[in-house]
Amino acid sequence: MTIELPSVARFDDSADDHSVSRLLGESTALRAARRLISTVSRFDVSVLLTGESGTGKELAARAIHDGSVRSGMPFVAMNCGAIPDGLVESELFGHSKGAFTGATAARDGAFTLAHGGTILLDEIGDFRLDLQVKLLRVLQEKKVIPLGESTGRPVDVRVLAASNRELSEEVGEGRFRGDLYYRLAVFPIHLPPLRDRDGDVLRLSDYFLRSFARKHKKHVIGFSVGARLALESWHWPGNVRELRNVVERAVILVSGAAEVGVHCLPIEIQTGDDSVRPPDHRSVMEHPDIPVATDSDAATDGEEILPLVEEERRIIMRALTRCSWDVPHVAKRLGMSRATLYRRIRKLGLVRPGSAASGETSV
Ligand SMILES: Nc1ncnc2c1ncn2[C@@H]1O[C@H](COP(=O)(O)OP(=O)(O)OP(=O)(O)O)[C@@H](O)[C@H]1O
Ligand SMILES: [Mg+2]
Repeated sequence: MTIELPSVARFDDSADDHSVSRLLGESTALRAARRLISTVSRFDVSVLLTGESGTGKELAARAIHDGSVRSGMPFVAMNCGAIPDGLVESELFGHSKGAFTGATAARDGAFTLAHGGTILLDEIGDFRLDLQVKLLRVLQEKKVIPLGESTGRPVDVRVLAASNRELSEEVGEGRFRGDLYYRLAVFPIHLPPLRDRDGDVLRLSDYFLRSFARKHKKHVIGFSVGARLALESWHWPGNVRELRNVVERAVILVSGAAEVGVHCLPIEIQTGDDSVRPPDHRSVMEHPDIPVATDSDAATDGEEILPLVEEERRIIMRALTRCSWDVPHVAKRLGMSRATLYRRIRKLGLVRPGSAASGETSV
């Protein structure tokens, strides 16, 4: 019986631009990460990229490769968490013909494919302990031993690793080898979550809006004030990937030459409430049980013709509630000064529930 081995290693030889300038954003946090990426790319050392899901770790890895002397050579990304246990070793190091049942031909592993270039070991935290030992040996000896062979083959590969878990904690808890951690983390770079990148949500939203409008050939004017406020006050658990998807869907929903209104955003972003997210985490616009708002709905249900002041009241109140009325924090998240936010709270007559002025009694 012939077993077709899954090819999890992705060999990237596209001519796309993967330079560091593709990591968009002007916040202090992102600029600092971009500077580190740019600097380290020129030095042939291992880099450990950490950050929540969707923060751009793979994009950063490609940028490091692209900015290095190895840029003309292969870039191979291996998602360690996605490979069935029994296949990880052969996917990484290769195997000889007959090395195991189903190995009908010899096959190169990711390290050999990446020879001369760069390998990204993604989700390195998912690596089994016994394989961590083998990986450490490859890094130390710069040789791989394919399954079924006894002698090592020299490989010249720059190793980048990525993890959305805090690897140093995994070391502390005995799930990740300290010696491998220090070998990989010669130069650690943390990609900050989107919620900590001041002002970048709107910058990226505008960028993605223009780019998806071009891609889908739609004439979209921009975001409504309400949509901008909703985007700004959302906490983006899925980071840039989530933002990108949200904007693409919004562009698809808008019809004619129009603004993206709040009704084009997923329900959880409209309401600022995670608990209303459809159970399978898909956006409301994909969810079969929840009606999709269209531009014509907007015209009939009044969504888009709410007076601006009402829209503003709703968004500011929602942000204040979500952030337990931490006004300085809310001002930062909404991209306005504290003084402006205080002025608007007063002007709109917003009152914290439970405060003496609200008329409600607190318990
Ligand atoms: N700063 C950024 N500017 C533009 N696009 C970005 C940025 N950061 C991430 N992206 C885009 O967001 C998506 C997710 O990025 P990427 O795959 O690099 O994230 P990741 O951190 O590796 O996520 P995961 O941990 O889930 O694998 C990609 O489409 C990427 O192009
Ligand atoms: Mg990734």
